[in-house]
Amino acid sequence: MEDQITTPDFKKIAAQLRKPEGADGIKVAERMNVGNKSMNLHAIAVLDPQANETILEIGMGNGFFVKNIVCVGEHINYVGCDYSGDMVQLASEINKDFIAQGQVNFVKADIKDLPFDTARFDKIITINTFYFWEDHVKVLYELKRVLKKEGELIIAVRPKHNLEKFPVTKYGFSIKSNDEIIELLRSNGFNSIESTAIMEPLQEGFVAGHNERETLILSCKLE
Ligand SMILES: C[S@@+](CC[C@H](N)C(=O)[O-])C[C@H]1O[C@@H](n2cnc3c(N)ncnc32)[C@H](O)[C@@H]1O
Repeated sequence: MEDQITTPDFKKIAAQLRKPEGADGIKVAERMNVGNKSMNLHAIAVLDPQANETILEIGMGNGFFVKNIVCVGEHINYVGCDYSGDMVQLASEINKDFIAQGQVNFVKADIKDLPFDTARFDKIITINTFYFWEDHVKVLYELKRVLKKEGELIIAVRPKHNLEKFPVTKYGFSIKSNDEIIELLRSNGFNSIESTAIMEPLQEGFVAGHNERETLILSCKLE
């Protein structure tokens, strides 16, 4: 009997990328750690964590790269926030030693309604979540609110021309051009924006079914 070639269910994968849950969500999160490694490490390099900073990450998935943030300086305090309860649980297990040391904690919450005090964070980073924001104005209001006045917001996305080649992104991804994203940030109070574009090394195809990956990192300040 001939082997059957099965086509991946891109709709299901898209839903898991948006909100990883259950056994499939665990697998998708593990694959993202590989497929998004270069993107995460470049974004963290732009974040440039410094001693004594308090850093918020939104949409950290299983929290595999938390170590790359908290270990680069003394007394870096990290809060990870994700609206998937399964990702919060997984990230808490993977980072249990940092949690025990009081350096890291994870919170289940939606980016558009953050359970944090005003001006709590020196820096905020969010990687591959922009496509899932439902209300950009509300999200940016919240990010501005919890960020210190002199703080910095780092947003990492795959650029539009690259995202459109991934078969998953036709299922509910909101895709905007670099100029549209920058305009959205400017019109919502982030006046100083620097961008870094990266061509990633070619890698084997994973869930998303496309190999060429690019990263756009926006470093945004309020003044
Ligand atoms: C595509 S995954 C990216 C994971 C990781 N940041 C990376 O780049 O490899 C998106 C993550 O953001 C979370 N997420 C998406 N929308 C969110 C929202 N509105 N509020 C909080 N978390 C969100 C998802 O649950 C998921 O863990």
